[in-house]
Amino acid sequence: MASSPTPAFPSVRMRRLRRDAFSRNMVRETSLAAANLIWPVFVIEGSARTQGVPSMPGVERVSIDRLVERAAEAAALGVGAIALFPVIESTKTPLAEEAYNDDGLIARAVRALKAAVPDIAIITDVALDPYTSHGQDGLIDPSGYVMNDETVAVLVRQALSHARAGADFVAPSDMMDGRIGAIRAALDADGHIQTKILAYSAKFASAFYGPFRDAVGSSANLGKSSKETYQLDFGNRDEAIRECALDVAEGADMLMVKPGLPYLDILARVRDEFRMPVAVYQVSGEFAMLKAAAANGWLDYRKCLLETLICFRRAGASAILTYGAVDAARWLREG
Ligand code: PBG
Repeated sequence: MASSPTPAFPSVRMRRLRRDAFSRNMVRETSLAAANLIWPVFVIEGSARTQGVPSMPGVERVSIDRLVERAAEAAALGVGAIALFPVIESTKTPLAEEAYNDDGLIARAVRALKAAVPDIAIITDVALDPYTSHGQDGLIDPSGYVMNDETVAVLVRQALSHARAGADFVAPSDMMDGRIGAIRAALDADGHIQTKILAYSAKFASAFYGPFRDAVGSSANLGKSSKETYQLDFGNRDEAIRECALDVAEGADMLMVKPGLPYLDILARVRDEFRMPVAVYQVSGEFAMLKAAAANGWLDYRKCLLETLICFRRAGASAILTYGAVDAARWLREG
């Protein structure tokens, strides 16, 4: 609030500064750069393989060789990071042993990327859902309940395997209790003191993840089961803040809010409360809605995508995971 009373119209005309591009540009409060963007990509086995994802038009699952090419393009456009998600076709098991295979798909992808495209950050997903035959993010007991501490032990092995492969960030997206502290301690004990943790701290049990589960092939395995016993209830704000506080205390370098657009209130509050870097995930369902409307000619994909990205920044996001990262980086370059 200004200390003197605000003079009113007609001496004050808010539209004066909006009249010309120079003054609009000068007073714009929020900026967006390619460096703020994180590109989520789906990785498959094999070589020279590309598969579309029907519920996410424009998104492709790619083999490691193609991934390296795509990553080089993204890096040339200044995209800050790539977030890798594996599509595990033949080695899903109840105990997700493939998740910590040092020669598994993600470990090989990280090594290939680090060798060929060293200047883009690599973020790996720490969660078991691509690897479990039941599609849950953790190990289940006979009743189907996801067991916490047993799962954390596997997540630690998975995170260590990613760090050994050279991941810059490990990003636990599983929502088990205590996993950030356990992963931090294990990374440090193994000498990976510089491996950063991007914690999916405020991750809600959302129906907007539907297309992602199609993309990684976990939706059929998950069936009618839900993730409500570990992901946040979408009506809860204070609980999201508590989750973040715990992850901060356990050593998270960055927090994340997910999904994005319907959760801007959470994002803004997390940024205000913790004053530390926060990422937001514009999830598959948000992207699918935009693409579907654009395909019908109802929305302008380019304008709407860039608007949403600015809105995330305005709400307090340092980084934004978006399937449109490369599109946006290209448009930012064009100006
Ligand atoms: C699972 C995971 C999910 C997403 C990222 N990691 C889905 C889920 O929790 O079921 C969703 C991303 C998206 O929808 O784009 N560990």
